[in-house]
Amino acid sequence: MRSTPLTLLLSAFLCATGCSDGGGGGGGETGGAGTTGGTGGATGGTGGATGGTSGVTSGTSGVTSGTGGATGGTGGGDATGTSGTGGNDGPAVRTPAASASTLREAGEKANPPILIGAAISGSGLNDNGYKSVAAAEHNYVTAENEMKWNALEPNPGSFSWGSADNIVNWAVQNGMQIKGHTLVWHNQLPGWASSLSGATQVEQAIRRHIENVMGHFKDRVHTWDVVNEAVITDSDTGVGNPRMRPSVFFNALGERFLDLAFQIAREQDPTAKLYYNDYSIDARNEKADFVYEMVRGMVERGVPIDGVGFQMHIGPPNNEAGGADVAANLRRFADLGLEVLISEMDINRCSNQVTAEEQLTYYHDIVEACFLMPECVGITFWGINDGRSWLNSWSGALCNGQSSQSLLFNDQYQKKETYNRVMDALLGR
Ligand code: G3I
Repeated sequence: MRSTPLTLLLSAFLCATGCSDGGGGGGGETGGAGTTGGTGGATGGTGGATGGTSGVTSGTSGVTSGTGGATGGTGGGDATGTSGTGGNDGPAVRTPAASASTLREAGEKANPPILIGAAISGSGLNDNGYKSVAAAEHNYVTAENEMKWNALEPNPGSFSWGSADNIVNWAVQNGMQIKGHTLVWHNQLPGWASSLSGATQVEQAIRRHIENVMGHFKDRVHTWDVVNEAVITDSDTGVGNPRMRPSVFFNALGERFLDLAFQIAREQDPTAKLYYNDYSIDARNEKADFVYEMVRGMVERGVPIDGVGFQMHIGPPNNEAGGADVAANLRRFADLGLEVLISEMDINRCSNQVTAEEQLTYYHDIVEACFLMPECVGITFWGINDGRSWLNSWSGALCNGQSSQSLLFNDQYQKKETYNRVMDALLGR
């Protein structure tokens, strides 16, 4: 629900110097003062004297605990102090830590905090070097493969929790949050699920899977990729004929499978954060526009979606996206009242399609784009060290078995320059 012009006038009057909890994220000179996240204010903030991104926040401070305001602002944007239209609480900008010795510390000390995540593999946890870097530098975990449908429900109604429990328990022991990845995805399905047909069969399978998986992890996992990659284009870069992806789910239920999955997930956990997640939607392109309209429709229908994950696999086979373009794209999704996340970031250097210099610029500018938005609640990197990256063995990534050099640590777990550029962005440098 967007603010009416009358509301804007009133809110500009009420929140001229920034609102505290429940009020709009004021974009005035003092910025918004909301600090605890929570319940989305009824009134918007004012446009900032300095222009820019004022008056735009939803109530997401506290990273995952706020409920988010229902109405997003459309940005302060001008120097007249008249155009900020945010209808939410929380600060309008994120303030960096003064200093930090790890990414995790930089994320935890920022105000509001931002989650720093990594995709973790079960095999990685057998390696002490991997484990210690993963826990020191991150406070958010996504299982790279171990919570996918084929891993958790290899046979109908028969669940296998061991590998996923190992990762989840390790994360909990290290004070990390977990994102369940992923409940409904066309890929990495067991054969029996891929060959289901008919609306009743497919709906029952979705329900059984979500109920059992969310039920099993309920005390430990509070954020979920409910639906992954439901949209396809002719090119993996997000260009050409965007459409709903044919899948066992879409073929049986049509677009309704999206609503259904989120509704079942909400029934299972009334307070979990429920996300849609996709690749090559990082900057504005045809796929991102399509997903935007799809998600906007869900919000308007009252489907319980809390946010969107932008995978941020930069370079072949996926898209490239500069920091300013990412910022503009994330902003419009946040203005729907949603959280946004960078959910699977890596930057592929294979075939030199992205040069070393470009990689550093992308890492800095894209992380900065998220960091500057309080609605951007986390940044997850898709792995820890280069040698274990999925890109090395994915033919479309053009690596031919060579290292994709795509991450923040080398195989001796030393920090690369990419790490330094990410740290710079998290510290406001
Ligand atoms: O576990 C088997 C092993 O038993 C077998 O010997 C081996 C032979 O190929 O395959 C192993 O499975 C592989 C699995 O990773 C675990 O290593 C699969 O072949 C391989 O396809 C699978 O790749 C994963 C890919 O998703 C599948 O789509 C990548 O590790 C994983 O990083 C990647 O992650 C996805 C996200 O979930 C969604 N977004 C895109 C992202 C990158 O593709």
